[in-house]
Amino acid sequence: MSAGAATVKGIIRSAGGPVPQLLERVEERLVTLAAGHGPILAVHAGATIAAGGKRLRPLLVLLAAGPRAAGRPELIAAAAAVELIHSATLVHDDVLDAAPLRRGIPTVWADGGRALAVATGDLLFSRAFAELSAAGSLEAVRALSRATSALAEGELLQRQDAWNAAVPIDRYLQRCELKTARLFEASCTLGALAGGASQEQVAALGAFGNSLGVAFQLLDDILDVAGPVAVTGKHRGADLLDGTVTLPLILARERDPQLAAVDLRAITTPALAEGLCDRIAATGALGDAQSRALEIVAAAKQQLVALDLTRRQRRALNLVADSVADRRS
Ligand code: IPE
Ligand code: IPE
Ligand code: MG
Ligand code: MG
Repeated sequence: MSAGAATVKGIIRSAGGPVPQLLERVEERLVTLAAGHGPILAVHAGATIAAGGKRLRPLLVLLAAGPRAAGRPELIAAAAAVELIHSATLVHDDVLDAAPLRRGIPTVWADGGRALAVATGDLLFSRAFAELSAAGSLEAVRALSRATSALAEGELLQRQDAWNAAVPIDRYLQRCELKTARLFEASCTLGALAGGASQEQVAALGAFGNSLGVAFQLLDDILDVAGPVAVTGKHRGADLLDGTVTLPLILARERDPQLAAVDLRAITTPALAEGLCDRIAATGALGDAQSRALEIVAAAKQQLVALDLTRRQRRALNLVADSVADRRS
């Protein structure tokens, strides 16, 4: 298991109270839900879930909900639903990005092909909504469907901007918000709704999740350039190879005119992508990108200050923000 995952696991242990036990129930529920549609899809959906992952989004649901929600069926349903949506988007994302490796094992796309990966992702999406609509409120279902639409829009924006090294930074940030932050936001929103929070508190927790999610994607994009496969479970330079332009390259192009002239379509092999990663790193752009991500994490932590949370909740949510800032996987 990777260092980042160990950090999240540490938070789960130290969160105390009902959180570790609730996450086990979420885990059991995920296995059951993946198995409900015949053996072929169950194998691939099940393998995706069993391959692990940090379970950050279900953790956010539980922490945003607080102790009052612990016995409520909609809480487990919401936590399972956000992880199913997350798994679905990863399975589809790996088709779109032609990614060979995920969580250290071959992707469903690499293993079973495009059709199987599309069907597996679809199954995971539909199970997520079936789960949430059976137990959660209409408001919760609406919040999750808003996030799911945003995710798809974010992936479309990424395709639209593929190979365009001159993509403006605002448009890049918008993509991060759509494809990643909105699901973090929905995780906090669903938790807050299950915990019976006031409308203001639901919105404020959602805003915290949104900021955290943007920072999370920025750091993911930095890791794509900086992180070795043994740590991230994904190949280095995968974004560049796929034409996905992210903050490190955007900032590096401002620093190095020669980099600004590189044609991304010429980056056709993993070795060329790794070479470009080295050139980006040599400009110092990774440090700049990291500073921006850490500023956003700090702003997210600031958003927690005014919230009505138990001491345990506040501490754990701050630790989650710290783990995002420190993420290595
Ligand atoms: C990966 O998310 C996709 C992004 C939003 C960058 P995670 O890093 O949370 O993936 P797992 O669940 O831990 O594998
Ligand atoms: C996040 O973006 C993917 C989704 C939100 C579906 P990435 O494409 O960067 O995620 P990884 O790096 O493949 O995990
Ligand atoms: Mg990807
Ligand atoms: Mg990535």
